[in-house]
Amino acid sequence: MQTKLTILCENSVGRPFGAVGEHGFACFIETEAGNVLFDTGQGMGICGNAEVLGKNLASIQAIAISHGHYDHTGGLPQVLNQTGPVPVYGHPDIFISRTWSDGNAARYIGMRHRREYLESLGAQFHFTRNPVEISHRIHLTGEIPRDNHFEKPDPNMTLYPEGAMAIRPDPITDDLSLVVDSEKGLILVLGCAHAGMINIFNHVLNMFHRKRIYAVVGGTHLGFSQPAQFEETLKAIDRYGIERMGVSHCTGLEKAAKLHAHLGERFFFGCVGAELEG
Ligand SMILES: [Fe+2]
Ligand SMILES: [Fe+2]
Repeated sequence: MQTKLTILCENSVGRPFGAVGEHGFACFIETEAGNVLFDTGQGMGICGNAEVLGKNLASIQAIAISHGHYDHTGGLPQVLNQTGPVPVYGHPDIFISRTWSDGNAARYIGMRHRREYLESLGAQFHFTRNPVEISHRIHLTGEIPRDNHFEKPDPNMTLYPEGAMAIRPDPITDDLSLVVDSEKGLILVLGCAHAGMINIFNHVLNMFHRKRIYAVVGGTHLGFSQPAQFEETLKAIDRYGIERMGVSHCTGLEKAAKLHAHLGERFFFGCVGAELEG
């Protein structure tokens, strides 16, 4: 089965066709069994970028949501306007009220649209904490066990639960990733990897009873990592034989440059328009 992934939303643009960048992520996945969209960006770029990149959003058979941050879910109304009724997969906690906080000010960064509104546009929500195959050979990971000591939660990610008196750390338990079981091997697509990229690698390898991951695409959150975590990440990339790595979004330019130096030809920038075949 041939597979093609194209990044539709990301912080930067890699092709001079009139696409726009925005802080966020969305990836269009084409297979012989049908097309799937993973995340939607904030909503400013998804429709125009899909058009200039020749991707028909109306062809999508399913939408998967990596987690309930605005920069991955804000484009849902625009996409639903093109798809009409369509299954939308995600974790049951995606609608939780969440914030970015530096200890003083707190800014809302959760989903911008109510479930009822999205359902009125055609979203058919399927919530899961467990792995699920959403289309032939396209899987969502379910909740990721947090097993190691060096992938620590981002302290700026906070929650404001209904009725609570104060914000508290957000474990982002809803962080899911997508896996395509392609002809070349496993292709892992990350939203923000809030669960920790190595935790995600290990969970995916256990899920599929494999020892190698062919490719990784998407937001790694390594831009917020400490040196020890980054070193362990480089070791894991080599240990699992990753042949292609296209980092995006919350990786940040500094860590992307370091990954490029480490990976050489295996690396690419996962910007708007970047493609990967499997
Ligand atoms: Fe993000
Ligand atoms: Fe996020």
